[in-house]
Amino acid sequence: MEIVNTAQALQGQLSGQSAPAGGIAFVPTMGNLHEGHLSLVARGLDAGAKVVVSIFVNPLQFSAGEDLDAYPRTLEHDLVQLAAIGADLVFTPDVSTLYPNGLQAHTTVRVPHLTDVLCGQHRAGHFDGVTTVVCKLLNLVSPDIAFFGEKDLQQLLVIRRMVKDLAMPIRIEGVPTFRAADGLALSSRNSYLSPAERAIAPQLYKNLVTISEGIQSGSGDYAGLCQTAVQRLDSLGFVTEYCEVRRCQDLALAGPDDTDAAVFVAAQLGGTRLIDNIQVGTY
Ligand code: PAJ
Repeated sequence: MEIVNTAQALQGQLSGQSAPAGGIAFVPTMGNLHEGHLSLVARGLDAGAKVVVSIFVNPLQFSAGEDLDAYPRTLEHDLVQLAAIGADLVFTPDVSTLYPNGLQAHTTVRVPHLTDVLCGQHRAGHFDGVTTVVCKLLNLVSPDIAFFGEKDLQQLLVIRRMVKDLAMPIRIEGVPTFRAADGLALSSRNSYLSPAERAIAPQLYKNLVTISEGIQSGSGDYAGLCQTAVQRLDSLGFVTEYCEVRRCQDLALAGPDDTDAAVFVAAQLGGTRLIDNIQVGTY
């Protein structure tokens, strides 16, 4: 496994050898890798691709007052895990490599509409930071395919739209959410949870399942189902930011006629912000 931290070295590695039949697969991450991230890498390896992973805690996607400084950085352990699974190339740029003129001076890539709701409404500038860095990383790596987790479904939809709108010749593939046995979606931020909070955290997914079951059994009152879930979550100690059923196509609020919808939830538990979603149709 090669590890590079400059754009030049990355491109040297990518142009040095001919790509395998499976092409080049790319998995962008912010590190602190867990089985969820590794499941994305495994998908690339299964496809016979040369798998490139980036590890970069992107300051541009954190708003003021968020956890940029506290975000867990575990590079050595990440590299051990990536070597063990068989990743081919790891790109670990620092901030000045990706933003040589500073964060403010960098060109911004912005996907409208899809970023106005859900996390976009609660985290000012977050998705602009995500699309800006992902666009740049995709240009640097120039993969045939890139993998993103359905755990961050809004992010996946936003990136799909960016790639389509900008005619980037890259396939964007979603990978199902990897969950702990009790249903909690794996997330780097789970390490912030106290044991007591960790015990409550799976209720987030349990409430998504309950809403999904309500929808499957014919309830058309999506807002009512969500409101009940919010009340349950808040009574357990969550502070729910949003819980909504939205269409995957355009993230408009969904109703019973929509088959490609998902229930999206974000809630604070103690100081930790957790998000999750469950799809209630195919998209
Ligand atoms: P990060 O949170 O490190 O996640 C990297 C990738 O792993 C994302 O595509 C995310 O959806 C996926 N992922 C995280 N937890 C997962 C789980 N439990 N199951 C399946 N996939 C999971 O998302 C980001 O970083 C950043 O925004 C990034 C795209 C790297 C841009 O900076």
